[in-house]
This record gives sequence, C-alpha cells and structure tokens, in this order.
Amino acid sequence: MEILHTVHEVRQWARRQRAAGRAIHFVPTMGYFHEGHLSLMRRAREDEGAVIVSIFVNPLQFGAGEDFDRYPRDFERDRQMAHSVGVEAIFYPDVAEMYPSGYQTEVRVKELSKPLCGRSRPGHFEGVATVVLKLFNIVTPDRAYFGMKDYQQLRIIQQLVRDMNLPTEIVPCPIVREPDGLAMSSRNVYLTPEERAAATVLYRSLQWAQAQVAAGERDALKIREGVYQQIAAEPRARIDYVEVVDADTLLPVERIERPTLVAVAAFFGAARLIDNCLVSG
Ligand code: PAF
Repeated sequence: MEILHTVHEVRQWARRQRAAGRAIHFVPTMGYFHEGHLSLMRRAREDEGAVIVSIFVNPLQFGAGEDFDRYPRDFERDRQMAHSVGVEAIFYPDVAEMYPSGYQTEVRVKELSKPLCGRSRPGHFEGVATVVLKLFNIVTPDRAYFGMKDYQQLRIIQQLVRDMNLPTEIVPCPIVREPDGLAMSSRNVYLTPEERAAATVLYRSLQWAQAQVAAGERDALKIREGVYQQIAAEPRARIDYVEVVDADTLLPVERIERPTLVAVAAFFGAARLIDNCLVSG
C-alpha cells in the first residue's frame, strides 16, 4: 500500500492507474477508522478499480470551540486497518499541503447547508464542500463513497457534484451500527460508559419513528414530537435538534408522503452525535 503525502504524488499515482486502464474509487475520511469506514472501503473494493482513501482532519470544517485539536488521530492504526481491507493507497496530507499560505477559496452549497447541522455549526458545510471539491480535483475519482449517517453532508456533496459538473459518481452507503444500535462514529470515543449507554436512545427513538410510519402515521409533527420526547426523557441527552424533513431538499414537511428523513442531533457529555433514518409514505 502506498502512502502519499503530496498533491503531486497523488496525481502521479492517479496517472499510473489510468495508464493501466483502472478506474479510481475514493473514500474521503478524517481517519480514526471504525467499522463504518471499513464498510465504505469494502464497498469501494467491490467495484472494479483501484481504491484510495484520504485521511485529513480538515480544519476548515471545525468551528471555534469545536473538537479540531482533540479529534482522535492514529495514523499507524488506520494504515493497518486500510491495508487489511485491500486499500491500495492512502493520501495523508498535512494542513500546509491542502491550504498553503495565501489560500483563499471557499465553496458553499447555499440552501442545503442551511438547515439541520448547518444551523448549529455555521461554516461547517462550507469547510466540507471546499475540502471535498479539492480532494476530488486532486484524486480525480470515478466513484466516491459516503456514509448515510452524515446524510446532510451526502446531499450537499451530491448537489456539489451536480452543480460543478464533476465527473464523479457518488455512492451512498448504509449506516453501520454497534450491536445495540448506536451509529458508529469516531466521536463515540468521547463517551463515558454511562453516556455510551444513554446514547442508544437516538436509535431507539428512530426505530419508534420508523414503526409509526410503517403502521400508517403520516403526521410529521407527531413523529417529531414522539422522537423529541423520547430523547428528552434521557437525562444525559441535550438535544440539538429533532427534524422531519424532505429527503431531497432537507426542508421540514407536514405530511410524510415522499421519501422523508427523520434526523436527530444531541450532546451526550462532550460528544455531539447525529443519527437519522429514512421513512416513506
Ligand atoms: O465525513 C467526513 O469524514 C468528512 O466530513 C469528509 C467528507 C472526509 C470531509 O472532511
């Protein structure tokens, strides 16, 4: 497996793959891998081509007072895990390589960045869209794989690809969960054992929502209220938002008649966790 640190090295690697007639499949990450990341890499491996992963904790997508400095990092562990699932190259740049002195440009996907996490994390999605566009320009992937836990991020990247005419196919991948339902996240390491147990309320409330919709409930407000009350009843949870939104536009809906996203974000101690499920009327 090759470890590439510079844009130049990645461009040369990509040129070699193309010369050999291979497609390039890309998994962008911030590292500290868990089974969710590995599932994206395995999914990429299923497609014919060379798999490259990036590991870059992107300062642009962290706000003041957020966890950029303490975001978990362990390159050696990540390297071994990526190797174990057949990744062929890792792009592991430093901040100066991605944002050299004099860097100025930012990208904004206007409407999709406003609701949900965009409200409580101003500038976050501009940071995500900017780094993903840069990474796509560097790696030139045929396909890129994104987890559906970060559903808003996925929608923003789909829109970015469409608006900027990028030749990359975005492959959405299912949420990977712990046996008790907690969605896998690098931020789960921040949880104390008590908070870890409490955090399962997110998935339980989403399961309840899914069951209600499957049983015929179409009133989005009732679903939102039910999910909200269940999470609010957990003393260790501090709710950021509970929303029932159109799965394409991410705007609130009154009736569940089209593909709809039930999305939650809550703090458990220092960890801000998100989760979601898709329901359909
Ligand atoms: O989902 C992530 O890990 C990050 O937001 C991404 C897409 C790698 C951009 O930094």
